[in-house]
Amino acid sequence: MNQAKASAPAKVILFGEHFVVYGGPAILAAINKRISVDARILSHEEDRIIISSDIGVVGEYWHNGDFNPLEGGSKAKAILDPLYEAIIQVLPTRNKKKTGIEVSISSRVPLGIGLGSSAASCVATVAAVNSLFQKNTSRHQVCELAIESERQIHKRTSGADCYVSTFGGLIHYCSKSKDFKNIKANESLSLVVASTGIKHYTSDLVSGVRRFKDRNETLFESLAKQASEICLQAWTAIESGKGDKIGELMNENQIILQQIGVSHHKAQKIIDLCNKAGAIGAKITGAGGGGAVIALAASKMESAKIASQVKAAGYQSFEVEIDYKGLCI
Ligand code: MEV
Repeated sequence: MNQAKASAPAKVILFGEHFVVYGGPAILAAINKRISVDARILSHEEDRIIISSDIGVVGEYWHNGDFNPLEGGSKAKAILDPLYEAIIQVLPTRNKKKTGIEVSISSRVPLGIGLGSSAASCVATVAAVNSLFQKNTSRHQVCELAIESERQIHKRTSGADCYVSTFGGLIHYCSKSKDFKNIKANESLSLVVASTGIKHYTSDLVSGVRRFKDRNETLFESLAKQASEICLQAWTAIESGKGDKIGELMNENQIILQQIGVSHHKAQKIIDLCNKAGAIGAKITGAGGGGAVIALAASKMESAKIASQVKAAGYQSFEVEIDYKGLCI
């Protein structure tokens, strides 16, 4: 095949971020914002891989690994390296030396605010490039290769983001067993995402939490236990449609995230706005340190009201639906 396409969804973490890096559980949902990747073989004689992204970066990699930025200047390499890694990993050995490939990425996912844009890019890139050479590769294989590529930017990744992006839906993920269970929500969840506008680097925040853990072993252990218990209770609450309980648990999870130092005064300001506008619960989602907030509303009407009030206060805010499709090839 000379051309292939794939797309993968972004995500929100409802419970358990950061502790999932240390083997704890997390509850995540894929959301209806996607990253699409088009891959094509340029020629079997060409010696380069061109990667372009509609966020304004383009670069070419030669097969000896040399990189040449074509658009986006110095930031291009850092953004494109994990995608190059994703491509290299799925090239058949005989093609590793010579096969020109062009990969174009288009994103509907706000970047660097905890919605899993890098995981979704890695998942869709692995799947699209792999389809150029192989017919059948399981979703599990795509996911594992995407996690390896993501390690380029975030060494300690728990793999949670790639899992939910690959398989879609609402999942209970356990990084220890690298396994997940689908959660069947009794009532659909009315969710709002609001951005602080402050971009973060997940790996820096994860390193910060590691330093906190090293300095406060006993406290961290106790917080991890609480976070794990919250996840377990949330799973039951979601499956039995107890919105109030889910919201209460989100608020409890937020207090724990504050204690490990990953919340942010702007995130807290948005959480307060969401609560004032009628949210049942609100917390940061993902790595924190700015990034985005997720709020749960009692109904679609309520979530629309929350999104519009947060927007009126000057923050980007939108309602999200759960994406049950996951990776599409
Ligand atoms: C990032 O979306 C979630 C973290 O828990 C990191 C990870 O799971 O790899 C902060």
